[in-house]
Amino acid sequence: MSMHFVSGATGKTGGDVVRRLLAAGHGVRTIARSVEKATALTAAGVDVLVGDGSDAALLARAVEGVDKVVVIYPNGPEQAELERALLDASVAAGVPHIVKLSSMEAMRRNSNPVHRAHFESESSIRESGIAWTMIRPNFYMQNFLPNAVTIRSEGRFYLPMGAGQAAMTHTGDVSEVIALVLTQPGHENQVYELTGPEVLSFTDVADRFSSVLGRKVEYVDQDPEAFRQHLARFVKSAWQLDAVCDIFRGIREGYVASPTDSFQKLTGRVPRSLTDFIVDNRGLFSMA
Ligand SMILES: NC(=O)c1ccc[n+]([C@@H]2O[C@H](COP(=O)([O-])OP(=O)(O)OC[C@H]3O[C@@H](n4cnc5c(N)ncnc54)[C@H](OP(=O)(O)O)[C@@H]3O)[C@@H](O)[C@H]2O)c1
Repeated sequence: MSMHFVSGATGKTGGDVVRRLLAAGHGVRTIARSVEKATALTAAGVDVLVGDGSDAALLARAVEGVDKVVVIYPNGPEQAELERALLDASVAAGVPHIVKLSSMEAMRRNSNPVHRAHFESESSIRESGIAWTMIRPNFYMQNFLPNAVTIRSEGRFYLPMGAGQAAMTHTGDVSEVIALVLTQPGHENQVYELTGPEVLSFTDVADRFSSVLGRKVEYVDQDPEAFRQHLARFVKSAWQLDAVCDIFRGIREGYVASPTDSFQKLTGRVPRSLTDFIVDNRGLFSMA
């Protein structure tokens, strides 16, 4: 059985990749930032090193002898450096294959700092000589999880997307594809763009919530500047605030990706729908 290093193993996508690998009998190594998180992962059967992903000495030990490395880091001013450090350690250790969680908008012409960080990280990996696979999802359905509070209490959610649309992706589809790339041959030097099965406006999203939850849920469009001020109460990093508001502005102004057939070609199944996502998380969105 193979052994893989998975970064971001306590996060949404990485956590599910780890569960899938362990269930299939593969070995997983990771770095966890706290003893508490390390203990839970160790109990699940993961080989855990405790520390920070910016620690070069720790990274060298973490990627020693692994078959593949998965790069998953959250958006922020440190993302590019964390990904660079993991790439450098992988090159030094002779890792044969890197799988990077990127974004569908990782293009040079895009000025958004999140998308630029992905573009630059993808470019460094391609230039490193290691075999690579780029996983580029569209807007995550899981981005609606923070809206559960007002969906439960008011039957409304507030976002500044106007009449914008997105072909939203389920993180379970993303982790399934990453696990498949790790455990099957033949995915070297491929880009997989992952979307859900349909393009939805945020009013369509509200209608889906209404029909699954059996009560009216409404999308309330927000003025972008007012929304930014509201978000600033929770998001303390200016970098993060600017980046998120810019992504939302892009959707409001009409950026929309067409659904892709990558997931179906890779798995033989249709991608999970927004209805599937709401059904799976019905308890979170339902009134007590
Ligand atoms: N949201 C979307 O719509 C969307 C769409 C396309 C692509 N993406 C991409 O998805 C990626 C994020 O994936 P996700 O949502 O699954 O991530 P996530 O849930 O935010 O998890 C991030 C993980 O990274 C770990 N981490 C952060 N800083 C670290 C450090 N210094 N050292 C070691 N570990 C560190 C976290 O550990 P702790 O538990 O210790 O914090 C956590 O395990 C981003 O690159 C984003 O661009 C997102």
